Amino acid sequence: MTSEEYYELILPYQDALNLLLGRLDVLNHSIYKDAACKPVHSFYSRIKKHKSLDEKLERLHFDPTPANARAHLQDIAGVRVICYFEQDAYQMIDALKRQNDLIVVNEKDYILHPKPNGYRSYHIILGIPVRYMDLTEYYPVEIQVRTLSMDFWASMEHRINYKQNRPDKEQIQAQLLKFADTLKEMEQSFETYNENRPH
Ligand code: GTP
Ligand code: MG
Repeated sequence: MTSEEYYELILPYQDALNLLLGRLDVLNHSIYKDAACKPVHSFYSRIKKHKSLDEKLERLHFDPTPANARAHLQDIAGVRVICYFEQDAYQMIDALKRQNDLIVVNEKDYILHPKPNGYRSYHIILGIPVRYMDLTEYYPVEIQVRTLSMDFWASMEHRINYKQNRPDKEQIQAQLLKFADTLKEMEQSFETYNENRPH
């Protein structure tokens, strides 16, 4: 697609993302009684870049057109919610799902069911209503909810596996799996000192 087509395509996705970020902020300071102990450490949001959007459509064997992007991509808008503890992650997910004007399009719990490589995170695609002058349209936003330790692992794994063909690949994979376990253990030890309790 052309640059003009790309910029026109992403406008409503940016609107949906901004609306969701506002809601996430409200939830972050209202979920626990003690407002000083927020569940979220940080938010990271992004709109898929022109090049990766075209590349993903091609990978899926679709022509890189705006219509195909709208029909087949659910991660044009994305937000990562980085929480302190697993309990915080589930509180945020639960609170989001209770916002009854948002539509759950798809969800995958890789926290309870990690990927074989050790990746952990809760993925949820929500349809966000964007109200324009005379019409309301839903746009998908992909939300990845994870803890600091899960984010540390995923960032390192992404960085290391960026280079696909390395001779020591199997050894690294085994190590990564071990690190995932160690991080989980460490995080659970920290969690025993956590005094936040849900309402
Ligand atoms: P995509 O085509 O990548 O969107 O995969 P999918 O639609 O099957 O969704 P999935 O839930 O598997 O992953 C979506 C996103 O989660 C990815 O784009 C990454 O940001 C993240 N993710 C999934 N698996 C891994 C992993 O093994 N390592 C890392 N670092 N990130 C992952
Ligand atoms: Mg995806």
